[in-house]
Amino acid sequence: MIFDILTLFPEMFRSPLEESILGKAREEGKITINLFNIRDYAEGKHRVTDDYPYGGGKGMIMKPEPIMRGIEAILAGKPVARVILMTPQGDPLRQEVVRRLARHARLVIICGRYEGVDERVRAVVDEEISIGDYVLTGGELAALVVVDAVARMIPGVLGDEGASEDDSFSQGLLEYPQYTRPREFAGRTVPEVLLSGDHQAIEQWRREEALRRTWKRRPDLISRAGLSDEDQRILDKLKGSSGTD
Ligand code: ADE
Repeated sequence: MIFDILTLFPEMFRSPLEESILGKAREEGKITINLFNIRDYAEGKHRVTDDYPYGGGKGMIMKPEPIMRGIEAILAGKPVARVILMTPQGDPLRQEVVRRLARHARLVIICGRYEGVDERVRAVVDEEISIGDYVLTGGELAALVVVDAVARMIPGVLGDEGASEDDSFSQGLLEYPQYTRPREFAGRTVPEVLLSGDHQAIEQWRREEALRRTWKRRPDLISRAGLSDEDQRILDKLKGSSGTD
């Protein structure tokens, strides 16, 4: 999968994309990340990329021409790509969006800066994505979040097992609690059922804990999760007995 990233600050991407799983995925050719500097597509001696907003107001706006020229150059004669603009005004990034994006062979990601981009840039954008209801200084960190979340869905990137069905959000719920050795730590023990070797009991415990955790922490997810009758029964029981988490 190819990620083409259009940014004023390509250096912000280097280290996060060289380390760990993403670094290895790049080395192995499972993902390709190309960084393009918007300034390279700006004209004039000073290669200006921003300007004052028409109508007045605070801050600077990214000019349309450098971004449009950059997009044109990136798209020219290459396989089709989905063009994404990172902006707090976009669709919230969720696991289902991540899964959908991972099906594309190529994503072109535009990182906005300053107070935003000239509205006319949106003419070439297929999709706008926000990573949350807060404002960052620019789209770069948000683009890194998209690349990371999408890359781990690509077969082979996470090793043989791939992304887990049990991951938080993969079935619309938060993940169940996880433990490793030691069996007792700081006076707290691992739940007995996990040591029992009874796979069915373990599965049931995990489902119950996932439901409990989601209901307590993110009740908004429960309504969208598409629960089975059995899940609903467990949930009703949990609601009846107010446990702690
Ligand atoms: N740029 C600035 N804030 C952002 C956000 N929350 N999501 C995506 N891009 C952004």
